Amino acid sequence: MQDTSFAIHPGKQKTSNDSTFQDIGSLVEFNQSNYFYSFKTERAHISVLFYRNDIVRVVMNPYNEPELGGSYTLELKPQDVDVKVEEHDEEIFLSTQKMKVEVQKSPLRINVYDAEGQSIVSEGKQGMAFNREGHVICYKEAFANDHYYGFGEKTGFLDKRGEKYTMWNTDVYAPHNPETDPLYESIPFFMTLRDGQTSGIFFDNTFKSTFDMRVDQTDYYSFKAEGGQLDYYICAGPSPKHVMEQYTSLTGRMPLPPKWGLGYHQSRYSYETEEEVRELIKTFSEKDIPVDAIHLDIHYMNGYRVFTFDGSRFPNPEKLISDMKEKGIRIVPIVDPGVKVDAEYPIYQEGVTNDLFCKYIEGNIFFGDVWPGKSAFPDFTKEQARKWWGKKHEFYTDKGIEGIWNDMNEPAVFNETKTMDVEVMHDNDGDPKTHRELHNVYGYLMGEATYEGMKDLLNGKRPFLLTRAGYAGVQKYAAVWTGDNRSFWEHLEMAIPMCLNLGLSGVAYSGPDVGGFAHDSNGELLARWTQFGAFTPFFRNHSAIEFVYQEPWQFGEKYEEVIKKYIQLRYKWLPHLYKLFKDASETGVPVMRPLFMEYPNDEETYQLFDQFLIGSNVMIAPVLRPGVNDRMVYLPEGVWYDYWTGDKLEGGKRIIAHAELDHLPIYVKSGTILPEANVKPSTAHEVDHMTIHIYPDEASTSYDLYDDDGETFNYEQDDYFSLNITVNHEDGNVSVDTTVNNQQYQPKWKDITYVVHGISSDVQLVYNGQKVDFEERNGTLSFNKSW
Ligand code: GLC
Repeated sequence: MQDTSFAIHPGKQKTSNDSTFQDIGSLVEFNQSNYFYSFKTERAHISVLFYRNDIVRVVMNPYNEPELGGSYTLELKPQDVDVKVEEHDEEIFLSTQKMKVEVQKSPLRINVYDAEGQSIVSEGKQGMAFNREGHVICYKEAFANDHYYGFGEKTGFLDKRGEKYTMWNTDVYAPHNPETDPLYESIPFFMTLRDGQTSGIFFDNTFKSTFDMRVDQTDYYSFKAEGGQLDYYICAGPSPKHVMEQYTSLTGRMPLPPKWGLGYHQSRYSYETEEEVRELIKTFSEKDIPVDAIHLDIHYMNGYRVFTFDGSRFPNPEKLISDMKEKGIRIVPIVDPGVKVDAEYPIYQEGVTNDLFCKYIEGNIFFGDVWPGKSAFPDFTKEQARKWWGKKHEFYTDKGIEGIWNDMNEPAVFNETKTMDVEVMHDNDGDPKTHRELHNVYGYLMGEATYEGMKDLLNGKRPFLLTRAGYAGVQKYAAVWTGDNRSFWEHLEMAIPMCLNLGLSGVAYSGPDVGGFAHDSNGELLARWTQFGAFTPFFRNHSAIEFVYQEPWQFGEKYEEVIKKYIQLRYKWLPHLYKLFKDASETGVPVMRPLFMEYPNDEETYQLFDQFLIGSNVMIAPVLRPGVNDRMVYLPEGVWYDYWTGDKLEGGKRIIAHAELDHLPIYVKSGTILPEANVKPSTAHEVDHMTIHIYPDEASTSYDLYDDDGETFNYEQDDYFSLNITVNHEDGNVSVDTTVNNQQYQPKWKDITYVVHGISSDVQLVYNGQKVDFEERNGTLSFNKSW
């Protein structure tokens, strides 16, 4: 009935229960102990703690002293921050070097200012409140010039002002429309951009929560949860990059993925037999299209039993995997949480015997239907279950598998609610909590179990993990793909702001199903989508059962050629992408960035959703509609180079990019240094020649070229290569200076071709103090050197 007009029957009008919220009232008592400040009001208890001088945590509990432990994601402990406390009649100030927290006494309101005294977060008529159902809410003032970003994986445009979002991990096969919410991930974090300054709020509450950013009529935004404490962190910024660094210091950063995880991945629901997989990789190699991984969807299993192979479809998985590895291609099998109920199936037996499945309080196991039929679900809130599950991956690692794909981990169940009964009582390591409270961390904890298990089993190799569901901090364990999109141009378009906002929510490693999962793709759509996919952090083509196959060659030569060109382009760009991944693993600043991250004072960038930056200085502007060969591109201030022609363009304006089917508009900012590898069939084949493109600026610029073995954690012991390249452009002459900073790891490539763009040939080129002879080609000047 929900699909008809009955859905808006006048008798069904909802009444909001927000009116029943009670304000916490005025301050009654203020105390301070070691590192935290407590405030008792007429109706609540509040703690304020500093985690760094630019991060403050506020916890409000209506009933008891706030509970300060218990986060599932927190990586940081409160620190002994130098805080100046001043108490006045009307308010109390808690000031650090970077932020000032003002606690107004009556009624109690919390306002936060930056070091310059500028307001970053404020309350007014409304502040913190709760209701009889145990819901908690926090209102903050919204301003006309506020823009909101983040919120994890959401449909719609880049700027979330005017939207209302729910956090409740949900399996959504129905088309992802602008109003479709929630999806698979719950990341209760957002950033506010106001007059070029940014700040962040992370609401660490695992209950179903809602962020109401429909601020134009109310002048307030709010976040609320259906239970638990009002527990949130304010990150002071001031720049978007500061906010990312602050937020990821709280929830953790993506570990550096194995290089092969950044290559091109091919998937299908499903490649059903060993022969089909062998045929597939043969085609890739015959057609000279690079590929790093083939994903095996549910048909590889015996009756959809996880940790099995179907003996008739895959008679010798070990051999298949080792043959593929010889060609430099990995297998990534899907692993869902649902364990088939089958008294003769060891995984089910062990789960029951050792009490590892989710149960009701009365002790009976929760059963739900998923692919294998009636299934039980590991209770990942229990350490013993996480360890068991992690260790079970020996089944895969013994066969040479290094990557896993976690799906259906919201958890998805084929029933009305789409998930587990909220009354299930999770063990939670001896502190039992209902599924109503822990639903949003189920997938996250499955990710933890899988990643840690694989890491233990892989003897120093980096695991690759892909997940559909997650919570704030999921980046520590897995890459995120955006679930069941469709082969719609609108979904190609929507994937840009979705991945950008995931990046702004700490998830630097994400990507959509290239070509679209459900519905039938076509050559033009796949070509345009592959152009975009070549620059998404995770790059996988995946399509659903019953729809047309969409491997690169499925739509004829014309499209195949374009698709191949862009998969190859991905491999050329891998050294740069890898460096950006390395940076993201250290700073939390994403690989794929919205323009405002680099130009926070340029209002033109605040809503731009259809173009993005790779790192700080490369603009990608994909074509997003059929039959379109021209598109508008905004170039922020400065000089930009057309990547393909080398033409110089003045920024601070819009241009029209002409882009025939084989053309993806790419622009490189002057002052950029870009490495480019020679293309190999996969990342297992080492790059043996490097090109360094230099786009000189008036100022001096520099780049640290990074490399390591790409598959172990040895880089943590300084086993990496780092080459600094510094370029000076003075009096028309260009000098290039290189310094090897570290060469404990030595890449296979020794020779570098330097290509200088946009400079006339009557200049001098100097390399490490010596004048060099150069070759002039297509408006560039190039010379070769070894490092
Ligand atoms: C879910 C996943 C999809 C997968 C399918 C079968 O729909 O989102 O990627 O192919 O299940 O496992």
